[in-house]
Amino acid sequence: MVCPILDKALPREIHSEGRGRLRALETLTPTLIHEVSQPLTAAAYYLEACAVQLRRRGTGTDEMLSMIERAQEQTVKAIEIIKGMRNFLISGEVVGRPEALRGIIDSALAAVPEVSTVNVVHAYSSASTHVVVDRLQVEQVLTNLFVNAVQAMEGSALRRLTISTRETARETQIVVEDSGPGLADDTLGRLFEPFFTTKPQGMGLGLSICRTIVEAHGGRLWPNRPVKGRGATFNLTLPTSQD
Ligand SMILES: Nc1ncnc2c1ncn2[C@@H]1O[C@H](COP(=O)(O)OP(=O)(O)OP(=O)(O)O)[C@@H](O)[C@H]1O
Ligand SMILES: [Mg+2]
Repeated sequence: MVCPILDKALPREIHSEGRGRLRALETLTPTLIHEVSQPLTAAAYYLEACAVQLRRRGTGTDEMLSMIERAQEQTVKAIEIIKGMRNFLISGEVVGRPEALRGIIDSALAAVPEVSTVNVVHAYSSASTHVVVDRLQVEQVLTNLFVNAVQAMEGSALRRLTISTRETARETQIVVEDSGPGLADDTLGRLFEPFFTTKPQGMGLGLSICRTIVEAHGGRLWPNRPVKGRGATFNLTLPTSQD
C-alpha cells in the first residue's frame, strides 16, 4: 500500500537511498497505524481509570490529577491522529471543517511540554479567526514547527517563540518565528526533503509531512530567507472560513 502523505512528500529529484527508505516506510506505516492504536487505546483507558480512582478516594493531589488528565488527553489525541492517518491512507483526501484557529494553536502548544521553557508571544490579527481544516492534521503541522523551534533554541540565551496571524477573506497566514540560530543558507533548499536532518536524533520527516498536510488543504508552507542574527521564520496559509 502506498502512503499518500509520504508519496506526496517525495520530491522527484530525491536520491535513491531516500527512495529506498521511503519505500520501507510505506510498508511500515500501515502496520504502525494498525499496531500502535491498540496499546494507545489501552493506555488511555488505564490513565482514565487511574484518575477516576484517585478522585474517588480523594488521594490524588490536584497537580497529579491534572498531569494524568493531560497525559490522557495527549494519548487520546495520538489515537485520533492515527485514525485520521488511516482515513487519509484509504481516501487520500482531507475533510475540512470551520475551526477556531486560536484553539488549534493552543492545543498544538499543549502537545509540546518543552514550550514551558520558552517565552511564547501571541500576536493574532483577530481572536475569532476560523479556518477550514482537518483540525488534528493542522495541530500536527504546528506541533512540528513548535518542536523544531524549541529544539533550535536549546542553546540560545534568548528563547522566544512568536506566533502571529493575519487574515484575508480567502486565506489566513500563520507565522512561527523563533530566536534560535536561524536557518543555514546551505540547508534552505533541502528543508522539505524527506530524511533531511541536521540533528543526531532527527528523522528529517517533520517539515516534509507539514508541507504535504498544508498543501492538501490548498495552502502553502515556506521559510523566510535567513537574516543574519535572526532566528528561523516559517509561514503557512490555510483557507479562511467564510461563516
Ligand atoms: N526552527 C528551526 N531553526 C533552525 N533549523 C531548523 C528549524 N526547523 C527546521 N530546521 C532544520 O530543518 C531540518 C529538517 O527539519 P524537520 O523537522 O523536517 O526534521 P528534524 O526536525 O530534523 O527531524 P524530525 O523528523 O524529528 O522532525 C532540521 O534538521 C534543521 O536542520
Ligand atoms: Mg522536526
